Amino acid sequence: MSAAFPAPAWLVGCGNMAGAMVAGWRAAGIDLGGVTAIRPSGAPVEGLRVVTDLPDERPRFVMLGMKPQKLDEVAPALAPHIGEDTILVSMLAGTGAASLAARFPAARSIVRVMPNLPVASRNGVTAIYSDTTRSGDRATVDALMGALGLVVRCEDEAMFAAIGAVAGSGPAYVARFVDALATGGEGLGLEPHVATAVAAATLIGTAAMAATGEPMADIARRVASPRGTTEQGLAVLDAPGGLGPLVERMLAAAIARGEQLAKDAAAAG
Ligand SMILES: NC(=O)c1ccc[n+]([C@@H]2O[C@H](COP(=O)([O-])OP(=O)(O)OC[C@H]3O[C@@H](n4cnc5c(N)ncnc54)[C@H](OP(=O)(O)O)[C@@H]3O)[C@@H](O)[C@H]2O)c1
Repeated sequence: MSAAFPAPAWLVGCGNMAGAMVAGWRAAGIDLGGVTAIRPSGAPVEGLRVVTDLPDERPRFVMLGMKPQKLDEVAPALAPHIGEDTILVSMLAGTGAASLAARFPAARSIVRVMPNLPVASRNGVTAIYSDTTRSGDRATVDALMGALGLVVRCEDEAMFAAIGAVAGSGPAYVARFVDALATGGEGLGLEPHVATAVAAATLIGTAAMAATGEPMADIARRVASPRGTTEQGLAVLDAPGGLGPLVERMLAAAIARGEQLAKDAAAAG
């Protein structure tokens, strides 16, 4: 199925994340003529009509792109616009399908998506969860998200949360590691701008190797010759209490926050 927005389509909130998706859809050549961004600031979004208040029309597609904490500010005015002909897509972290259904009971289909920022260059990962039985609506959302990179369709919201923790937040984690590498380089005497450029170029080069499909373990093995320097560095990362347990704690903290947001949304709904 080719990607197209059912029109009229609304992006309710169009900041960092929804803006990155718009950049990706533009890069994919998707027609955004029927898409309106609604944001209180009225700040422009390239390629879209932007308004500050909900238009007087019945949207066929609505994507929630504000912060989860704004849901109860947005829902009362938005709900009367959401009807039997509206696909409601939500990117709100930690806000479950049941909480959305409680606020938008007339929605034709509710679909949760969890994209990540590389969608802007169509190198994103988007988790999708929906219990809608309307296969046409699923296909519409799959095609739009598929234009932005890899799509992972989740069977349940636990899987959806797990992919959100790994991929939705993932660019921040990778960025922190690369920063730490650069800071380490500075500790070895490199000028800050040199350390930053070298660490970023190393990320890009490694990503290009990964893009060929070569497993990460093989990449690491190819760099680390037996009894060489890299092997000693990897031994520190691989030691008990090293990188693996640290990443586990990092993911657990993100999942716990998602669960808290879900509880808050359910209690408010
Ligand atoms: N950032 C990520 O990497 C990422 C990844 C996955 C999922 N998400 C999800 O994406 C959502 C947005 O995150 P973000 O980082 O893009 O936040 P953001 O940059 O702060 O954008 C939030 C948007 O919501 C708008 N907004 C605020 N109050 C509103 C209201 N009452 N009605 C309509 N729009 C309103 C803001 O409008 P103005 O522009 O006018 O201020 C802004 O456009 C969150 O739910 C988050 O869970 C983010």
